[in-house]
Amino acid sequence: MSSWTWSFQVLLICFVLLSCAEYSKAGLTSTFIRQEWPSTDIPLDNKVFAVPTGPNAPKQVHITQGDYDGKAVIVSLVTTEIPGPSKVQYGKSEEQLHAEGTITNYTFYQYKSGYIHHCLVDGLEYDTKYYYKIGKGASARKFWFHTPPKIDPDAAYTFGIIGDLGQTYNSLSTLEHYMQSKGQAVLFLGDLCYADKYKKNDIGIRWDSWGRFAERSTAYQPWIWIVGNHEIDYRPELGEVLPFKNFIHRYATPFLASKSSDPVCYAIRRASAHIIVLSSYSPFVKYTPQWRWLREELTKVDREKTPWLIVLMHVPLYNSNEAYFMEGESMRVAFESWFVQYKVDFILSGHVHAYERSYRFSNIRYNVSAGDPYPVPDKSAPVYLTIGDGGNQEGLASGYRDPQPEYSAFREASYCHSTLEIMNRTHALYHWHRNYDGNKVTADSVMLLNQYWYVLSPVMVILL
Ligand SMILES: [Fe+2]
Repeated sequence: MSSWTWSFQVLLICFVLLSCAEYSKAGLTSTFIRQEWPSTDIPLDNKVFAVPTGPNAPKQVHITQGDYDGKAVIVSLVTTEIPGPSKVQYGKSEEQLHAEGTITNYTFYQYKSGYIHHCLVDGLEYDTKYYYKIGKGASARKFWFHTPPKIDPDAAYTFGIIGDLGQTYNSLSTLEHYMQSKGQAVLFLGDLCYADKYKKNDIGIRWDSWGRFAERSTAYQPWIWIVGNHEIDYRPELGEVLPFKNFIHRYATPFLASKSSDPVCYAIRRASAHIIVLSSYSPFVKYTPQWRWLREELTKVDREKTPWLIVLMHVPLYNSNEAYFMEGESMRVAFESWFVQYKVDFILSGHVHAYERSYRFSNIRYNVSAGDPYPVPDKSAPVYLTIGDGGNQEGLASGYRDPQPEYSAFREASYCHSTLEIMNRTHALYHWHRNYDGNKVTADSVMLLNQYWYVLSPVMVILL
């Protein structure tokens, strides 16, 4: 046997083993015990919250996708002294073009926000680096971003995944570890800053500090936002009863581009992925706006163009941690049959401050009056990934239900982030990276197979 043939066979065997990884059936509860590191918020005078200098300098800069297909970004920033011009100068080599934005502000109890600018920069070319400048004179600040490749079934793209981040030393570790990765955009799974843990006007102040804290990443690549329970901000004792008031003023989303009526419920297409953002804390039972919108959006998914169908929601539908156990059950009942029918690839959630990956299971046969009440293996079901352990002040959820349910493939209570490397229309390499003593360590990896395109690859047919 020639060395070439031998190498080729080894390669094939590795490929098949990797391809079959998500179907392995030995559920594992990690024995890793993280070292103690207090889950306390970083003091406001720490340099991670440094305020940009210069008169009326732009602050809390962040970008997100601005349209349905990735040819636009929304640039958001805050000015604090005067509104100032709402203008973004941008271009491929120098900032010769410009776009005008809008300005808003709001109060929360007696806190008064700065002037919040949202500027749509559209008509961009795919797969192109753009530079942008905001602010005037000595206060001007410069950043850059890279647009995604055009919509294509084989477009490779790497997403970072972070949830429940907060603003502690653990949060900083997670964010810095993510920034060392090759992630090109972040799927953020809700619970941004945990400002609602504070009293009265400090709530708004901690929204501001988190905007400055996250800017080191959010100014340079789009973060795709979903809302969690810490964004609800329903505080009747303070006279504040408008859900998501802080979030919606500060974090724009392209909801109108997907014909949604709700800023916290929308969809985008990016590279080879169709991403659907749901709100666990907005009405979702039959006939509500979210239910009707999702039913319509799922019919628009074209797996020939965007093979990867990804759904984001804050509360996991399959979770075997003691924390928040069964909280997602009502949404599971409302939507799971659609997720199976449309062969969703992954459902990404946060909320539980720990990590868990599921096998492909469903429980759609159970209807209270008849059927098997237990989740069963289902090749058409999504993989559920719970990544709610960015590092917030509430600490880890380390109590798991025992025995480990059959649907649970791997679970561990550590702070972390994940990366999802979409390679082509059939394969995506997923990694979970725990924070470990100041370093990032890959602690769970799996090759995920596309639910629409992957049946039997030609390589596997040869071997079989
Ligand atoms: Fe949460």
